[in-house]
Amino acid sequence: MKGVILAGGLATRLRPLTLVTNKHLLPVYHQPMIYFPLMAMKKAGIKEVLLTTSADHAGHFANLLKAGEDFDLKLYYAVQQNPKGGISEAINLAKEFAKHEPILVLLGDNIFTFDLARAVKWYEENENKGAVVFGVHKDTESGQYGVIEVDNSGKVLSIEEKPQHPKSDIAQTGIYIYDETVFAKIAGLSSSDRGELEVTDLNNMYLTEGALSCEVIDWWVDAGTSFDELLAANKQVAEMVKKGQL
Ligand code: G1P
Repeated sequence: MKGVILAGGLATRLRPLTLVTNKHLLPVYHQPMIYFPLMAMKKAGIKEVLLTTSADHAGHFANLLKAGEDFDLKLYYAVQQNPKGGISEAINLAKEFAKHEPILVLLGDNIFTFDLARAVKWYEENENKGAVVFGVHKDTESGQYGVIEVDNSGKVLSIEEKPQHPKSDIAQTGIYIYDETVFAKIAGLSSSDRGELEVTDLNNMYLTEGALSCEVIDWWVDAGTSFDELLAANKQVAEMVKKGQL
């Protein structure tokens, strides 16, 4: 399995912090935000990672992360021309890189403690696993997240992007595993009302095929959504580092 980290976007919700600096380079306590998904990739046993970002910031990431040696990873870069293209458009940049292998996709501002190694192993040992989405219990009434509805056996019933009336309290995180059909599926997506190729539409394609599963994780923070989330992430990470949990 290969890794893909999405670190593009305009991060307008964090301006003026992000007028010059890419949000994934902002500090979260003692480290730049982008270190967290890179460490998660390493922990998951991934050896090669593609980082997608904008042309303006690609050089900043290359200066900081070089070829990935500090993380024991082989790091590659891809430029997303349209920063407003959406998550699925950014994933599509990994088509050549993936070379028919499955991919573990992480949004660059997601911080979590869940160890993905077991999920990656399970996926690799089983045939036809399709896609896996990772959810977390959150206040989905806030309208910030995709919402995953699952039945008692854990089977996914629906995923809706930022619904007004959420069917569950399970928020879709920015952690996904996809098989090699992901690129053909992205080619069939159309832009949403906000002009993006949505990850929820992509996941719904897998759901329609009966090829989507969901794992609910314990703790997760989307550090790049708002000033409050960024502040909360800083505080939580500081506490966890001091307790030796991170
Ligand atoms: C995106 C997804 C959403 C998901 C969220 C997690 O939202 O569209 O389903 O819950 O990431 O961070 P966005 O941050 O693009 O608004």
